[in-house]
Formats: sequence, C-alpha cells, structure tokens
Amino acid sequence: MEYKNIIFEKKEQIGWIKLNRPKKLNALNREVFEELDLIITDVQEDNNIKVVVITGNEKAFAAGADIEHMVNGGISEAFKLTDISIVAQEKLSDLSKPTIAAISGYALGGGLELALCCDFRIAAENARFGFPEISLGVIPGGGGTQRLARLINQSIATKMIFLGEIIDCDKALKIGLIEKIVKENELISEVKKLAITLSNMPVLAIRAAKKAIKNGLNVSLKDGLIIEQNLFCMLFGTEDQKEGMNAFIEKRKAKFLGR
Ligand code: CAA
Repeated sequence: MEYKNIIFEKKEQIGWIKLNRPKKLNALNREVFEELDLIITDVQEDNNIKVVVITGNEKAFAAGADIEHMVNGGISEAFKLTDISIVAQEKLSDLSKPTIAAISGYALGGGLELALCCDFRIAAENARFGFPEISLGVIPGGGGTQRLARLINQSIATKMIFLGEIIDCDKALKIGLIEKIVKENELISEVKKLAITLSNMPVLAIRAAKKAIKNGLNVSLKDGLIIEQNLFCMLFGTEDQKEGMNAFIEKRKAKFLGR
C-alpha cells in the first residue's frame, strides 16, 4: 500500500518506516499519525516482520508536530490531534516486536516523542534533540513529559522541557536518551546490523521480555516480579525454550523457529 507522508518497505524481515515530508522537516500532522497507525497494525500482524525501524532523512527525523496545522486550532482540534497521535504512538510502543528509531538531524517535540516510543534510539552525529514546545506557549502533548521523565533522570527531563533546551548527541548519550552515536553515512547500516541481530533472537522470548519491562515499569516491584515470573514460566511451553536449552547442552548454536 502507498502512503502520502511515509515510505514503508519490508525487507529481510525488517519493516522500514521512513517519514517523508522533507520540505517541512517531517513535521507530523494528523494524516501522518493515521498512516503510522495503519502501518503499525500491518507490521504487528505480519509474522515475516521481526523488527521495525523508524527513520527520517539526513536533516530531520521529525521537527515536531506541524505548527501550521495547529496554529489556528482550538481546544477541540488539539484534543483530536493528540488523540490520534497518542493512539498511534501507544500502538508503536506496545508493538510486540523490537523497534529502533534511526535518528539523523532534528528529533524535536512530537518527533522526539515518536523516538521515545521505540525500544532503541541510534543517532547520527548531527542529531539534535529537544522539546521546544514551551517556546510556542504549550507543552509536549503526545507523551513527551511522561516518556522522557520515565526514561531519563527526572530533573534533567524537567530542565529540558521547562527551558526548551536542544541538546546534541553527546549530551543525549550521556543522559541515556540514546544508546549509540554513529557517523551520519553509517546510520542505516549500523541500525540494520542491530535489526538483523534482533531478528535472529527467539521472537516469543523477545515479546515476553518487552512485555515484562514495559508493564513492570508501571506497577510495584512486587507486581512486576509476578508479571516477569508468569512470562518466564509461559516460555516453558515453547519449542524455542527446548531448542535454546538443548543447544546449550549439546554445545551448538540454537535454531529458533518462533514457536
Ligand atoms: N511544523 C511545521 N513546519 C515546520 C516545522 C514544524 N514543527 N519545523 C520545520 N518546519 C518547516 C519550516 O516552517 C520551513 O518551512 P518553509 O521552508 O516553508 O519556511 C521548513 O520546515 C524548514 O525549516 P527551517 O527553515 O525552519 O529550517 P532551519 O534549519 O532553519 O531550522 C528547526 C530547523 C530549528 C528545526 C526549525 O525549523 C524549528 O524550530 N522548527 C520547529 C520545532 C518545534 O517547535 N517543534 C515542536 C512542535 S510542537 C509539538 O511537537 C507538540 C507536540 O508535542 C504534540
């Protein structure tokens, strides 16, 4: 299926989602989130896709929500836009497959929110991150205050949001916002390497690990331990668990079938 604002390709078990509004630095409007929602539903159901990568172009991952689209809107329009963005981003965050944001250039406002929904953020040396919403008289509205403060140190997140600070990739790495910095021309190949490694992991165990980490973060440690225990024990009903443990004992490489 063709999309107007996104180029979507499935290659070698990887779903590549490329934001494609270059003239506007990939600014995100309602239509982008609607397309994203359809694509995420597609990759969730496609058993041939093991990993999802979201990227932009050299100049911008995405420079935030489309300000032109929002400027004259009222409260009701703001609710409509954030409703669809929150639904699409929650779907992305809940995807049972690993997700990687491959970031070059600006990841600002809604763009950074989108990257925060991914499991990993790999950035090129020219990447810039921030929530400049405060300078527009608003705050992040698609999960930024929530996801940033959960991912990194709360006071660093607060400072970034209060001051609309834009940080470079070295600072982003230091505060734990991204996992790795790579050269600009190596971003896609480096991300592909990680995606291929992830695609060779046992998918049911990856799904369980993702559920345990995400669901566990929102509950008490006691409840989190129960979530983890249940998921761990459920994996003993899979062929991959037998294969993984037998391969260890037989001193060979495991061949996981995702069953
Ligand atoms: N919305 C709409 N258009 C945008 C945009 C955005 N968020 N970001 C950039 N553009 C457009 C510019 O208007 C410009 O269009 P024209 O060529 O038609 O003038 C084009 O993209 C290129 O941008 P610049 O000329 O500004 O490029 P630059 O290199 O000089 O500056 C920038 C780059 C610093 C990122 C600057 O474009 C900028 O500050 N953009 C806005 C960033 C921002 O405030 N993001 C937060 C949006 S609000 C939000 O995201 C809310 C939320 O959480 C839901």
